Amino acid sequence: MIKNITRKFSSCQLTENQVTDETVYLKRRQVLKQLGFAGASALLANNAQADWFSKEEVTPFTTQLLSAKNTITTDDILTPEAKVISHNNFYEFGTSKNDPIENAQQFKVNPWQLTISGEVDKPITLDYDDLYKAFPLEERIYRLRCVEAWSMVVPWIGFPLADLIKKAQPNSKAKYVAFETLYDPEQMPGQSSRRIGGGIDYPYLEGLRIDEAMNPLTLLSVGLYGKTLPAQNGAPIRLVVPWKYGFKSIKSIVAIKLMEKMPPTTWNILAPREYGFYANVNPQVDHPRWSQASERRITSGGLFARNRIETLPFNGYGEEVAHLYKNMDLRKNY
Ligand code: MTE
Repeated sequence: MIKNITRKFSSCQLTENQVTDETVYLKRRQVLKQLGFAGASALLANNAQADWFSKEEVTPFTTQLLSAKNTITTDDILTPEAKVISHNNFYEFGTSKNDPIENAQQFKVNPWQLTISGEVDKPITLDYDDLYKAFPLEERIYRLRCVEAWSMVVPWIGFPLADLIKKAQPNSKAKYVAFETLYDPEQMPGQSSRRIGGGIDYPYLEGLRIDEAMNPLTLLSVGLYGKTLPAQNGAPIRLVVPWKYGFKSIKSIVAIKLMEKMPPTTWNILAPREYGFYANVNPQVDHPRWSQASERRITSGGLFARNRIETLPFNGYGEEVAHLYKNMDLRKNY
């Protein structure tokens, strides 16, 4: 069950940087809540005094994003926006955490086409504008746990993948959902150089079982922190599956295909012993090269930070998703 919990902050754990980010963010949301969307967008467009948005930030897309209903939240402290957009895995732009923000700024996302095809009665093509308008947007504050044992807490904006799949009307053969990232080596240096791109055969591919894809937690995200998604976080549209390791959350998606058979996935092809198809966050099953029992929030210091936190089964979303895996032995890696 999705809960509507009030967001809480415990100031003792906040650095000054975190406090500033969150204050500005909450101020925006508070104003939007007080005024309602229509009033808020007028204010944001006209009021030169408004310090929570610079003029350039107020576009038809940001106003649309800001209308998002606040549906899911968590007690966790938000990771500051500056960190969320500068510590990224997006190997198409390089393998270091700061490569994506440095190399993706010229990435062109408009025009864009996302197709939904395969075992469906009504194939769909969404153009760039449709990504923001075709479905009601929601805000979801989720933990993201990378397989590399770091984590963050992100206020995403998006819509449930289930809304899109239902619209395409899957037929009875649709058992899996395959996802594909844009293939454009001219724009993505990692796709034209194995050294820059970490030896991956592109395009980046991912997949879910149909019931995972239809779970209400599974989100297609078009924004974060109340703004359109930055290129380095997977613009214009990416998947967010909060109970799975972060590599399942494929970025810059151009194709979604409903399939009868389990689709191949990038990390599973590259290292099947290390990265399963399911890849549910599981503190009981270590990665062959490191423990998965704990993690570090990216705000709490470097690789050897002492203040690690316990990793939770299904990244803490067991109540919502454990029933999907009742026939699986949780001591094994899938
Ligand atoms: N999607 C594509 N196309 N290419 C990638 O390299 N990296 C994955 C995932 N999606 C990746 C991708 C990994 S390993 C993680 S942890 C998350 O994106 C990171 O998302 P973030 O950079 O927004 O935190």
